[in-house]
Amino acid sequence: TRKIQLSPSLMTMDLDQFKEQITFLNDKVNSFHIDVMDGHFVPNITLSPWFVEQVRKISDVPMSAHMMVMDAPFWVDRLIEVKCDYICFPSEVANGVAFSMIDKIHAAGLKAGAVLNPETSIDVIKPYIDLLDKITIMTIDPGFAGQRFLESTLDKIVELRALREEKGYNYEIEMDGSTNKAHWKMISDANPDVYVIGRSGLFGLTDNIESSWNQMVSEYE
Ligand code: DX5
Ligand code: ZN
Repeated sequence: TRKIQLSPSLMTMDLDQFKEQITFLNDKVNSFHIDVMDGHFVPNITLSPWFVEQVRKISDVPMSAHMMVMDAPFWVDRLIEVKCDYICFPSEVANGVAFSMIDKIHAAGLKAGAVLNPETSIDVIKPYIDLLDKITIMTIDPGFAGQRFLESTLDKIVELRALREEKGYNYEIEMDGSTNKAHWKMISDANPDVYVIGRSGLFGLTDNIESSWNQMVSEYE
């Protein structure tokens, strides 16, 4: 089987089992996905730089921030302060500040990513694509777990792989949204490097993280 990287989306974890879940996943996953929203870019508010610090107290797993905010430079600075390993800004509002955000993130020794919402084309990030460490393709509309999976977004994953091959770029390709049993086959055909996995694919399967994990593994193999 192909080696894939899993990144549990912590906005969908059970907060009453915070420590048990982080500890259980600690040696099994490649990163934790932290959704940072401002209530404006999307109509929701979930995790934050503060949450990154709380997870860091009990885990060394790299954390990857998925920013859904209007004021991207402000939140980039906050995420640099807490040394979030991957800082991924929304490509839709990065116009005019993308290069300076990427440079700042790299100067802090951290990894820079860009996120593309379903209707955003790869052309938007082309001017700075060679500088990116990660590109996240949203396979749902951002803001909430459990939304409709948008199959057409998978074409962008295929396109990014081809482009990386052709030009020798180094970015990781990540997908985010409704990664679950119903979509596993088509996602796996598109072949992203990192799978963000949330409520429908992991945390919501049972009320116990170990049985949820085992169920996920059996569905995904
Ligand atoms: C939504 C977030 C996702 C979300 C995915 O805006 O970006 O990370 O947690 O959850 P599922 O996989 O349950 O749709
Ligand atoms: Zn996300």
